[in-house]
Amino acid sequence: MDGEQRCVRDVVEPRPTLEGAGVRLRRTIGTHTLDYLDPFLLLDHFASDDPRDYLAGFPWHPHRGIETVTYMLAGEVDHRDSIGNRGTIGPGDVQWMTAGGGILHEEMPRPRDGRMAGFQLWVNLPAAHKMDRPRYREVAAARIPAVRRDDGSVVRVVAGEVDGVIGPVTGIHAEPSYLDVALPAAATFVHRVPRGHNAFAYVFEGEGRFGVACEEGYRGDAGGELVGAPDLVVFTDGDAVTVRADAEPVRFLLASGRPLDEPIARYGPFVMTTKEEIGTALEDLRADTFVWRDDPEWARRRQTWRG
Ligand code: CO
Repeated sequence: MDGEQRCVRDVVEPRPTLEGAGVRLRRTIGTHTLDYLDPFLLLDHFASDDPRDYLAGFPWHPHRGIETVTYMLAGEVDHRDSIGNRGTIGPGDVQWMTAGGGILHEEMPRPRDGRMAGFQLWVNLPAAHKMDRPRYREVAAARIPAVRRDDGSVVRVVAGEVDGVIGPVTGIHAEPSYLDVALPAAATFVHRVPRGHNAFAYVFEGEGRFGVACEEGYRGDAGGELVGAPDLVVFTDGDAVTVRADAEPVRFLLASGRPLDEPIARYGPFVMTTKEEIGTALEDLRADTFVWRDDPEWARRRQTWRG
């Protein structure tokens, strides 16, 4: 492939985190180690065979200024929100929720065949679109194409493009690529990522060699840095990412997005541009005016916020 190959800038170990009403998960983006990988604000990996680790779930809570992306591997999540959506996402399904100006929702994980596993990624919204109308998209597993290569690799394309196959989630401000890549032993995967976009891989099964040799801080051989599950790989800039499986298979999420390069003010489930906007979100919650509405008062407010 033409162009410059990306190398590994950082390998981030997940931090055990207790979230919601008591859900145990592994957090990599959104920690002291890696606060923000513009436009990605948070990456949580939940995987447990013990329902006590997750049944308490995420009861009604607000979001503003971001998108939350849930991708399930096992088990299911019952979901309800303030714009009337209600449903269950199961293994292989994706829920791409744009909170925009304000949404309240509930996310309750349940086991299926004794198992529950998945991911939640938060994608920032540009300042000019933080107060937009909320949008909810549920993509069933059957609608997510799986690209199968001759070497046995299987790539599920949620967003972005692989071998001419385009994922079902489009029209996102961050222009993201979001892939679930499974490589058998000895397979190599090369993926083009637009220069300037930030890219990461989250390894959740096996181990593989990521990126190419870097001058500084390089810890692998010429074939890339060896990283095993569960760890997050952050890539440097470049035109493409290469991952190679050696003796073992490897499975990872590979995501990229266009950085917004805007200031952020974050407070729990709200991510805005200024502290004042966070204050307004909290006041709105208290005053029961948090949820986005299609009325003149909100139209005025959106004007103000866009400056
Ligand atoms: Co939520």
